[in-house]
Amino acid sequence: MRYNQGFWCFEAEIMSNLIVLGAQWGDEGKGKIVDLLSEKFDAVARYQGGHNAGHTVYIGEKKFVLKLIPSGILRPGVLAVIGNGVVIDPAALLDEIAMLEAAGVDVRSQLKISNRAHVLFPFHRTIEKISEARADRVPIGTTSRGIGPCYEDKIARRGIRIADLVDNNFEDLYRALAGDKKLIAEAFEISEPGNFDEILAQYQRYAEQIKPLATDTSHLLNQMIRGGKSILFEGAQGTMLDIDFGTYPFVTSSSAAAGGACTGTGVPPNKIDGIIGVSKAYITRVGAGPFPSEDLTDVGEQIRRAGNEFGSVTGRPRRCGWFDVPLLRYTAEVNGFDSLIITKLDVLDSLEKIPVCVAYEVAGERITHMPASTRRMEAIKPVFETLPGWQRSTQGVSCINKLPKEAQQYLRFLEERTGVEIGSVSNGPERNETMIVEGSRLEKLLNR
Ligand code: IMP
Repeated sequence: MRYNQGFWCFEAEIMSNLIVLGAQWGDEGKGKIVDLLSEKFDAVARYQGGHNAGHTVYIGEKKFVLKLIPSGILRPGVLAVIGNGVVIDPAALLDEIAMLEAAGVDVRSQLKISNRAHVLFPFHRTIEKISEARADRVPIGTTSRGIGPCYEDKIARRGIRIADLVDNNFEDLYRALAGDKKLIAEAFEISEPGNFDEILAQYQRYAEQIKPLATDTSHLLNQMIRGGKSILFEGAQGTMLDIDFGTYPFVTSSSAAAGGACTGTGVPPNKIDGIIGVSKAYITRVGAGPFPSEDLTDVGEQIRRAGNEFGSVTGRPRRCGWFDVPLLRYTAEVNGFDSLIITKLDVLDSLEKIPVCVAYEVAGERITHMPASTRRMEAIKPVFETLPGWQRSTQGVSCINKLPKEAQQYLRFLEERTGVEIGSVSNGPERNETMIVEGSRLEKLLNR
């Protein structure tokens, strides 16, 4: 119990810890949303992935692309936490810190890194390159950052964590891991496996810079929650790239779904008050893998250009398609979305008609469950319904009921078909180009 505004109340009544995560294949615009919402929280914690993610935030004229550090860092006074579920390439982290410091952000006092997070090494990238190029393997189309091989070492219990990197026995652990990689290099007849001694020296230098930021972030976050502070948990990638629930094997190697927020930060499930899904008003995917509502015509190309759909990490063109209701219903079930934030509505402004995938058919039959097998997923024939476009700019509209009536109709259609409320709509890259639906569950969760 604590005393708050004249009343004694249970802590559970006043805390509000929310998870914000992608409801599709990533790139839903979470960076902007997390940056916007972080104003209301004491800390923002990232729970999985690595520098394969790219969260773009525009503040006035300035554009920030954050890969490892939660976008909450852009709010003075908000603590940014990199949780134990994240894999960290120290070079990428230090580059990002330098970029933020150059922009005047007080990174050293605002950032904490879990000492249980795993460390990514250059040989993880080499292994990934070889694996993706193997003739007998279907390439996943990864971001080539070495993320998968780093998680492989974690699960195989030979990985090196931040606590080891900053400890005196780092060299011993490193030599054991490097010995392992040398064996792999020999087996694959790789003539240039990399200079392991040089990497050791380089990582010892990184350790000095990272040490002051490393701590037990699970304890820190739980302590904050006990003290009545609120935490925003930030997912990277999206549910359809989750290692268990995504379009396996065309997925990333971590738990992007809501459950990952607890295992990836060490905060228990009973401390989470709400789960918010972020989805584009259409859908995109980077890399290989099934994509039922993909549009391979000129209209898909038009969306790519209007939405600037090119990867923020790799620059690769994103595959574009139509809002997929069965997919959203699936990700809502797996994550338990309380509310949905729809981003990039303005990208559809010029379209005369907007198709929406409303059902899946396989071999002429409607299916009601998301298939687990890639083969069945690839066999899906999407069933579309077409809605009228609004063919007017929605830029500058600051209230949902001032949107063109076709746009309102479109949003209502998505809400009815997915069964999840739309709590917010974003119609531009700037912080202020976001509308919160009055009376929505999202509004209540944010104002507890
Ligand atoms: P990896 O995470 O680099 O192993 O890549 C695995 C798959 O996830 C590939 O299809 C990538 O394109 C995709 N992916 C990884 N990170 C992101 C992201 O932040 N946004 C969108 N797709 C991603």
